Amino acid sequence: MKIVLVAGARPNFMKVAPLLQQCDRAQNIRAVLVHTGQHYDEELSSIFFRDLGMRAPDYELKVGSGSHAVQTAEIMQRFEPVCQAERPDIVLVVGDVNSTLAAALVAVKLGVPVAHVEAGLRSFDRTMPEEINRVVADAVATWHFTTEPSADENLRREGIPDGRIHFVGNVMIDTLLACREQAAKSRILEALALRNGSANPVPYGVVTLHRPSNVDDLARLGPLVRALREIAVELPLIFPVHPRTSDTLQHMERGGGNERLRLVRPLGYLDFLNLVSHARLMITDSGGIQEETTILQVPCLTVRETTERPVTITCGWNRLVGMSPAVLVSACREELAHATRSGKTPALWDGKASQRIIDILMK
Ligand code: UD1
Repeated sequence: MKIVLVAGARPNFMKVAPLLQQCDRAQNIRAVLVHTGQHYDEELSSIFFRDLGMRAPDYELKVGSGSHAVQTAEIMQRFEPVCQAERPDIVLVVGDVNSTLAAALVAVKLGVPVAHVEAGLRSFDRTMPEEINRVVADAVATWHFTTEPSADENLRREGIPDGRIHFVGNVMIDTLLACREQAAKSRILEALALRNGSANPVPYGVVTLHRPSNVDDLARLGPLVRALREIAVELPLIFPVHPRTSDTLQHMERGGGNERLRLVRPLGYLDFLNLVSHARLMITDSGGIQEETTILQVPCLTVRETTERPVTITCGWNRLVGMSPAVLVSACREELAHATRSGKTPALWDGKASQRIIDILMK
């Protein structure tokens, strides 16, 4: 059986890594890895291949950045001949980025069945580009591999037959669990002067913001950054800045940061995992980080009105704080007033999702 696995942007790499490993281990699967090049910087792409021990892609489409239409169309144009030449039995796509949508469309139109990993998640907010990508990828996929029960319900509501929905757990958590030991060796806490030698780290929080709705407009990002500075008076914050965010931050004085709100370059996988696992709290608008903090048992405040990952809330580790900077500040204060927190672990987030997926595809 030949499977083409497609990855393109930062959050794809940790999802594809364990699937590729399972495929490469199986005797009767030939896996072909395609990197679309949606993300291309060392800090958003190459470092993840090294940190995750992934082999080099078989194809690099080098599409680069562009508007949604340009980027999606470019991926489609460059992926179609690859699919025609390889004639795979399955094209496997992960997550909800433009590369996911583009590859799924190309495959299904060539008559190649699509497996969508992380299917069925819905924010019900169609202004999010990822929501469109998810809905379309699911509409054309043959196999829908889901991470949480809400996704199964969403797919059923959209008319996907039960036999095509497979609740398998979370491949990103496979990677997190597999990499924890290695991440523990990272020296990022020392590099950021958050720990001296073997002492416990000083308390700190971690911030990531990259959603277009939060970061593209200074009128929105400016007040958020000022709220972060207010929080940082009580708890120093480390903010690895996505390139999309730094484009806007350059219009603020000192780029928005100070000695308590420390802006740093994007981090690799192992350093980031280590940094978050020791954090007192996380502030983010990312989808994947809501899931990672649920497993790391780090309280997460999500700067969005909706989440497509409600299990992170019902398990007790994530809270939606909406878009108001004032609410963010008070939510952080409430969180810091809690001495300890407890919560649950979502079902099947046990490190074996990729094995389940490959077993199902083999059948
Ligand atoms: C994309 C995904 C988003 C995901 C995020 C993770 C879509 C629609 N969005 O958003 O779901 O959460 O990745 O990072 O697929 N850039 C660089 N270097 C790179 C790549 C991009 O500097 O290697 C800059 C460019 O200025 C580019 C901008 O970042 O225009 C945005 O990149 P793009 O891939 O369009 O979307 P992301 O915001 O990264």
